Amino acid sequence: MSNLNEVIQLATKEIKDSTNLDELEKTRIKFFGKSGLINQEMKKISKLNAEKKKEIGKKLNLFKNNFSIEFNKKKNIFEDQKIQEKIEHDFLDPTLPERSINLNSSKVHPITQTTEEIISILGSMGLKYVEGPDIEDDFHNFTALNIPLDHPARQMHDTFYIKTNKSNKNVLRTHTSPVQIRSLKNEKVPIKIFAPGRTYRCDSDITHTPMFHQVEGLVVDKDISFSNLKWFVSEFCKTFFNNESLKLRFRPSFFPFTEPSAEVDVNCSRKKGKLILGEGDEWMEILGCGMVHPNVFELSGFSTEGATGFAFGIGIERLAMLKYGMPDLRNFFENDIRWLNHYGFSCFDIPDLNWD
Ligand code: DAH
Repeated sequence: MSNLNEVIQLATKEIKDSTNLDELEKTRIKFFGKSGLINQEMKKISKLNAEKKKEIGKKLNLFKNNFSIEFNKKKNIFEDQKIQEKIEHDFLDPTLPERSINLNSSKVHPITQTTEEIISILGSMGLKYVEGPDIEDDFHNFTALNIPLDHPARQMHDTFYIKTNKSNKNVLRTHTSPVQIRSLKNEKVPIKIFAPGRTYRCDSDITHTPMFHQVEGLVVDKDISFSNLKWFVSEFCKTFFNNESLKLRFRPSFFPFTEPSAEVDVNCSRKKGKLILGEGDEWMEILGCGMVHPNVFELSGFSTEGATGFAFGIGIERLAMLKYGMPDLRNFFENDIRWLNHYGFSCFDIPDLNWD
């Protein structure tokens, strides 16, 4: 008897304390489920005398009624709350006007546009578009490009290293040159590819951002010489800058993966702080290039069959800044809508070439 009173007290308390539908249902099962506490008490009744049976039976019925009234009350409250929450969360205002999508006012980012232009030109010059991963391993990013562990060029790259359990370290690629290795590993003579994409260096100031874009080019075939490289790069630059009188200067330079190597400058003038390409006698560096180093072929396991190759790497931001007169590199990645509206391109401005 005292046990029944305790069960009734507990059930009344638990139903009062329940804070959501789940708890409420758990309480119902705990007391009125098949093997619930109330049923267990019911079973005990059969052993009692008639008078006791009547007394306890009455008590139980009363409690059952009260429980069910309390249960339904709380259930209604929780169900209403749930609906209310859903209404608030999934709020839809049908009185709002439709969103106007004005394709003329949306803008294409200058990096996207410049990359599309480069794709269009290099594609027309017979190179195939390929991609490589942003997360590279040490072998593709450095070793196979003739940059061994102790090479000072590794320090120049301010690399973002990625923690792995493997002995071969992973990095965010510091340049697009590892795509050369991937092509050399997978293809045979002739290879004519270009690979635009993101590159990363742990560097941030007026002229550097931790993420930037490059495009890599690689041409390997019989009888490829430095003069082919000069012609190719000159044609590309003249077309990109839409300037037939653009003068180029090939300055001897050093890259571990090319020999000989050169950096290419374009002629320009600075008038009242404004940079004009294709005139004047000043020079501006725009890309690095050279003849593929024999070690690179060997380290990639590439059988040259007597072929030679040239490679080049171009900074896409740099090209965009020069072509469209954008003075500050950092603006590219600030997502300032005023800058995007000013320097962005119409999505109908599709790069196309009029080859005569
Ligand atoms: N990977 C070089 C860099 O990021 C750029 C470069 C120079 C690429 C010369 C080339 C090359 O393919 O031949 O500084």
